[in-house]
Amino acid sequence: MLEMEDVSVTYGGVLTALHGVSLTVPEGSCVALLGANGAGKTTVLRAISRNLSRHGARLTDGRVRFDGIDLARTSMSEVVARGLVQVPEGRRILGRLSVEENLRVGGMRRGRKAAAAARERVYGIFPRLAERRHQQGLLLSGGEQQMLAIGRAMMAGPKLLMLDEPSLGLAPIIVGQVADVIRQINAEGTSVLLIEQNAAMALSVASSAYVLELGRVSLSGASGELTETDTIRHLYLGHSGGEVSAGSVAFATTLQPWSGNGPS
Ligand SMILES: Nc1ncnc2c1ncn2[C@@H]1O[C@H](COP(=O)(O)OP(=O)(O)OP(=O)(O)O)[C@@H](O)[C@H]1O
Ligand SMILES: [Mg+2]
Repeated sequence: MLEMEDVSVTYGGVLTALHGVSLTVPEGSCVALLGANGAGKTTVLRAISRNLSRHGARLTDGRVRFDGIDLARTSMSEVVARGLVQVPEGRRILGRLSVEENLRVGGMRRGRKAAAAARERVYGIFPRLAERRHQQGLLLSGGEQQMLAIGRAMMAGPKLLMLDEPSLGLAPIIVGQVADVIRQINAEGTSVLLIEQNAAMALSVASSAYVLELGRVSLSGASGELTETDTIRHLYLGHSGGEVSAGSVAFATTLQPWSGNGPS
C-alpha cells in the first residue's frame, strides 16, 4: 500500500536527515517507525506527505508510492482524497473551535452524508468526544486533544493513517488508551504507520517495525522479534525484558542506554 524506496532528504542542502530510507506498509497492517529525538521520523512523514519544501527540505533521491501511484506526480489534495491521512506531531487541533467543529473541518472534503457517518463512527470510537462535542478544543485535556486529532484525521476516511508520536506528553494510562484506539482503527480495516519514540507502546500495537537511527534504518522486523533484540532492549525499553505492554511505557520515553544487570 505504501512503499518508500531509498529516500534521501536534506535540509537547506546542508544537513542530510535521511540516507536512503526504505520502508513498506502492507495493506491492512500496522507498522511502527521507531527512533530517538532527531533520528528523522518526522522527516519520513514529511517526505511521504510531500510536505518537505515548507520546511526547507528537499528529496534528493528515492521515491514514495501509495496504492501504486508515484506521490511525486500527485498533488497533496489528491493524495488525501485517495486516503493517505496524517495526524501531525503536536496534535494541532483548532483550539477555539468546538470538538464537533474540529471534526467538521476534518470531513470538509467529503459529502454531507459521508461526513455525518464518519462523525458518528468517530463518536463511537471516542465516547468522550461525543460527551464533549460542544466544548472548545483548548479546554480538553492533552489526552482528549490527541483523541480529537485522531478523530479529525478519521473524518477524512483514511485508508492509511499516519500518526506522529501520538503518545508524546501523555500519562501512561492515557497512552494505553491511545494504543487501544489505534488497535481498534487498524482492526476495522485502516492501515497504520505509527511513528513513536515510545517503543514499548508502538511494539504493543504494531505487527512490525523499523528502527531509524541518524537517518538510516538500522533494524526492522516483526514486533515480537524486535522486542527480543538487544538494540530495542538497551536503547528503548530501558529494562532487561519481561512483557512489553502499554503499561511499561514509562521506561520508553528516554533514550539512555540501558544499564541494568541483564545480558550485554
Ligand atoms: N525545519 C528543519 N530545518 C533544519 N533541520 C531540520 C528541520 N527539521 C528537522 N531538522 C533536522 O533533521 C533531523 C531529523 O529531524 P526530525 O524532526 O525528522 O527527527 P524526529 O525523529 O522526528 O525527532 P523528534 O523525536 O524530536 O520529533 C534532525 O537532525 C533535525 O535537527
Ligand atoms: Mg518528530
